[in-house]
Amino acid sequence: MARTVPDLKIRTLERFDGSIWRQYETDNYRILLTGAGRQLLNLRNMHRLLGPYVEDYTQGNEGVGSSRVFLAEGGNARVFSLGDDLVVKESRPTSESSLFASMDRTDRLKDAVEKHCPRWIDIPRYYGALMSKKNIYKQFMLEQKIDHGVTVGDIINYGEDNRSATGVLAFDSLDRFGPITPKLTEEVRDRFGSLKDWLARTVEIEGLDPSRYLPDINENPYNVVLERLNTPEAGSFIKYWVIDQ
Ligand SMILES: Nc1ncnc2c1ncn2[C@@H]1O[C@H](COP(=O)(O)OP(=O)(O)O)[C@@H](O)[C@H]1O
Ligand SMILES: [Mg+2]
Repeated sequence: MARTVPDLKIRTLERFDGSIWRQYETDNYRILLTGAGRQLLNLRNMHRLLGPYVEDYTQGNEGVGSSRVFLAEGGNARVFSLGDDLVVKESRPTSESSLFASMDRTDRLKDAVEKHCPRWIDIPRYYGALMSKKNIYKQFMLEQKIDHGVTVGDIINYGEDNRSATGVLAFDSLDRFGPITPKLTEEVRDRFGSLKDWLARTVEIEGLDPSRYLPDINENPYNVVLERLNTPEAGSFIKYWVIDQ
């Protein structure tokens, strides 16, 4: 249902799982807040994090000393850390609707993964997105940050100039991630294979079209972010977070 406050339109979107998303729309912008995003706003003073970020974005500041700390870059997005546990993805989308549609699909996929996959496989929480209606290149998404952004690709192609074709990882991420031994590399390669099987089975059980829900997993090991755990979960010392589907 649409409610109109001067030029702000607010819509409530009821999701397949009963959670509530909100969309706020003005002449220039559209903002989507997920259920997790609404919770985040209730719990934390997001203005203290977002205010400086917006200023640094506007002035083009990034890096040490700014609030816009570069984490990684792929073919479609530049990713910045925001505080300890959030990332902002600045997207270069191919179409206006892509960001919202992708949040919708990811939400559906996350639900399926939680139901059918072991706990070492997960999908980060998506909090919300903002897009400019005047400039499709201004799209931002707020998402749960996973560790230091190191992916399966960074580990299995370690030592090669592996990211150059697909993007860049912050220079200190691999150091922060910790030692990369042959044993770790082998384990990550094995689990990545098993993860793809789990995901394929999961979408099949849920009747979801794999080409729509898992478009960029099979060929792209840079879409699985690794988190080292102190205590193993379901037998794994690393958690595998699927992103960018
Ligand atoms: N939630 C996240 N937490 C930590 N790092 C992330 C997260 N999302 C993305 N990254 C890092 O940013 C890179 C690019 O992000 P991605 O969403 O795959 O964008 P693109 O569409 O450009 O490929 C990833 O390979 C990963 O290193
Ligand atoms: Mg990617």
